[in-house]
Amino acid sequence: MTRERIISGKPISPEEDTFTWSLRPKTLKEYIGQNTVVKKLLISLEASGIRGEPQEHLLLHGPPGLGKTTLAYIVSREMGTRLVTTTGPTLSKIADLMGIMTNLDNRDVLFIDEIHRLPTAVEEFIYPAMEDFRVDFIVDKGPFSKVINVPLKRFTLIGATTRVGLLSAPLRDRFGITYHLDFYSHDEMKEIVVRSAGMLDIKIDKEGADIIASSSRGTPRIANRLLRRARDYAIVKADGNITGEVARKAFDLEGIDSLGLDDLDRILLKVIIDYYKGGPVGIEAVAATLSEEVNTLEEMVEPYLLKIGFLIRTKRGRMVSQEAYKHLGIPFTVSGQASLFA
Ligand code: ADE
Repeated sequence: MTRERIISGKPISPEEDTFTWSLRPKTLKEYIGQNTVVKKLLISLEASGIRGEPQEHLLLHGPPGLGKTTLAYIVSREMGTRLVTTTGPTLSKIADLMGIMTNLDNRDVLFIDEIHRLPTAVEEFIYPAMEDFRVDFIVDKGPFSKVINVPLKRFTLIGATTRVGLLSAPLRDRFGITYHLDFYSHDEMKEIVVRSAGMLDIKIDKEGADIIASSSRGTPRIANRLLRRARDYAIVKADGNITGEVARKAFDLEGIDSLGLDDLDRILLKVIIDYYKGGPVGIEAVAATLSEEVNTLEEMVEPYLLKIGFLIRTKRGRMVSQEAYKHLGIPFTVSGQASLFA
């Protein structure tokens, strides 16, 4: 089943993508949060600039909506070069990538989103490009086949993935730098909401920003989406100002609670509680009960529930924590949970 979730970390439409693009920070200085990553990137960029070399290949991983594409864009801007973007699943043929790579200039940035979904043949084609800035192109088949060596300019590859565990070791090892992006803190989210509201001329008070920040699952893309929903509600049902009360009412209407959980999160937790005594239970069983894809649950639902400690991952499967029972208003009894040691 595919559901449209307002609290999804992925873009929900091309229009939204264009809109969010306008709000993205353009420099590392403007960037809010991910402080360690930003500090390390600043040093790395400055060093590569001094050496007159391209930035080392960079792998960014973490849940959707946290700024992987934005960082790639910033890196190319800071280097004053072009950014060429593509995605793993769209690079189905070697020829597609060949065209892209041979057009890259020195220090250009090639950004491959969802790099864990590259076809194997394309992935292997990238190895010499990353290591030696050349590609090996095989022409003809059989006894007359030969390898043509095509040199490339010294570009930087930035790969992004929500599933770093699915990357093959040879590909992972070819990135000089790997950074993990984590969910943003409440204060960082608040700062991002206030910044976006300022850029969009939206009036919002401290409580309004607070409610949007707590409902955005530590994810800027969700915050910017919720900000627009709250603005619409404020225009229609209030005086145009986003107060705490206005934001709360707007999100109640969307089924988003005080922690940013929506129906799918609550259903997942309740299924584990009602059908599996709170766990432990395998994700496959939960997915089957919910008629959802395992992938959707692993990428779009679980990370935040794990982050806030509502789900606990054990060797024998997922368990719902006592805090989650409390949040859902369901009495917690130890005997209600299947024992971990049974
Ligand atoms: N908008 C979206 N992500 C942002 C970030 N990390 N800093 C500032 N503005 C943002």
